[in-house]
Amino acid sequence: MTHFDKGSESIWIEGKRSLSGRIPIQGSKNAALPILAACMLIPGKCVLNGCPDITDIKCMCSLLKSTGAEVDINSAKAGNQITIDTRNVREHRLPEKYVSAMRSSVVMMGAMLGRLGEVYVNYPGGCVIGERPINLHLYGLEKLGAQIWIEGNHIHAYADELKGAVIDLPFPSVGATQNIILAAVTAQGTTIIKNAAREPEIIELCKFLNKAGAKIDYAGAFLPEGRIVIHGIELSRLHEVSYEIITDRIVAGTYLFATLAAGGEVTLENIPIGQLDSICDIITRMGAMIALNEDGSEVTIYANEREKIINIPYIETQVYPAFPTDLQSPLLAAACMAKGQLKVQEKIFTSRFRIVEELRRMGADVTVEKDLAVVTGGRELEGRTVIARELRGGAALVIAGLCASGITTVADAGYIGRGYQNIVEDLTKLGARIRYGN
Ligand code: UD1
Repeated sequence: MTHFDKGSESIWIEGKRSLSGRIPIQGSKNAALPILAACMLIPGKCVLNGCPDITDIKCMCSLLKSTGAEVDINSAKAGNQITIDTRNVREHRLPEKYVSAMRSSVVMMGAMLGRLGEVYVNYPGGCVIGERPINLHLYGLEKLGAQIWIEGNHIHAYADELKGAVIDLPFPSVGATQNIILAAVTAQGTTIIKNAAREPEIIELCKFLNKAGAKIDYAGAFLPEGRIVIHGIELSRLHEVSYEIITDRIVAGTYLFATLAAGGEVTLENIPIGQLDSICDIITRMGAMIALNEDGSEVTIYANEREKIINIPYIETQVYPAFPTDLQSPLLAAACMAKGQLKVQEKIFTSRFRIVEELRRMGADVTVEKDLAVVTGGRELEGRTVIARELRGGAALVIAGLCASGITTVADAGYIGRGYQNIVEDLTKLGARIRYGN
C-alpha cells in the first residue's frame, strides 16, 4: 500500500544532504500495465511477479475487475504478485472513472477487441504533458478490421473478426504499437507493424505473449525499419503463464539524477540490464563516474567531487534507445546543480516543461521557448512549497528539494505515487531527510 492512498498528499524535504547507500529498484510501471491488459487475452489464470505497488497498477487492476476478471494482489517484499483470472470476463464497457484516471488504459482497447470483439470506452486521461491524441491507435485497430464509432467523448469499437494487416506507423508510438500487438495476436493471418516502437516495454509485452503461446517475431524491432510480425493464432491456444516484470529504467534513472544533483555515492540493485546506456552516458558526460557490476545488474554512481559536475551543451529526448522523455524533468532538476549551461530539447511531448515554473520559484535559472529549455546551473536553490503537476515532474521537484537550502514541500505529491512505489523510503535509506506530510 503506497502512502499516497492514505491521504497524505505532500512530501517534506530538508535539503543539502548528499546521498549514500544501496537500494533495489522496483518493477516497471510501463512494462506491467500493458502486460496486465494482455492477460485479458488469456482465458485462464496468469501470475505476474514483481509488479510495482503504485496507484496506476491498482487502477489497471480495477479496470480488469470491471470486465469480470478476478484479480488478486499479494503484497511481497520484492514487489506485488498479481494473479489475474479472466475466465469470467463478459463486460466490454469500461468504467469512465478508471479510464479517465490513466492514459495507459487505452491499451485495453486492443486486448478487449481480441478477447470479446468489442469495447466501449471513453477517451483516456493521464498526465498533463501535452497533446496525447490516440489517432495512431485507432488507425491500427481499423486496419485490423475493427469498426470504430466516436460518440461524443466515447469510443465504441467492434470487430466480428480481426484480420492481419500491414500497418505502417507514421510515428513509432509506444501505446499504439502495444494496442496493435494486442489486437493482432488472435487476428486471422499475419500482421506486420512497420516503424513499430522498440522501447523495452514493447519487447517485454511480446515476450510475455509468446510465453503464453503467441507467435510474435520482434527481432526486426531493432532494425532501422522497426518491424514486428505477429502471426495470429486462435484465442483458445493462448495458455496460462507466470511472468516476472522487469525493473523500472525510469525509476533507476530518477535515482541516478538525484545522486548526480545532491552528490554522493549510491548503488542501485536489480536494474534492468542494458537499458540505462543513454542515461549513464549523459551522467558520465556531466562529470560523475558510473560503474556496473559484472553481470550489469547493479550500477554505482560516484558524484562526490562537486566541482567536476558540469552541464553539457545539448541533450534531446528521443525514442529508445536515445534519452527518454520520462527523465527529462529529473535531468532539468539535476542540471540546476551543475556548472554551465544545458539546452534540453523535448522531441516527444508538446508540453513537458511545467516543472520549470516551480524550479524558477526555487531560484533556478531556467528559461523555456517552445520545445527548448535552457538551464544555467550553479545557482543556489531555496526550499519552497512547490506543486507537482504530473508524475515525473513531481519526482524532479523532490530532486530539487534534496539540493535546496531549507525546507521544500512538494504539494500534490499523489502524482508521484502513480509511478514511484517508495520514493520517500528509498531516499530515506540513502540518507535524505524526507517524509510524507507538510
Ligand atoms: C508511453 C509511456 C510514457 C512515455 C512515452 C514515450 C506508458 C504507459 N507510457 O506513453 O511514459 O513517456 O511512451 O516514451 O508506457 N502520438 C500521436 N498519436 C497517437 C499516439 C501518440 O500523435 O495515436 C504522439 C503523442 O502525442 C506523443 C508521441 O506520439 O507526442 C509519443 O507518444 P507514445 O509513444 O504513444 O507514448 P505513450 O504510449 O502515450
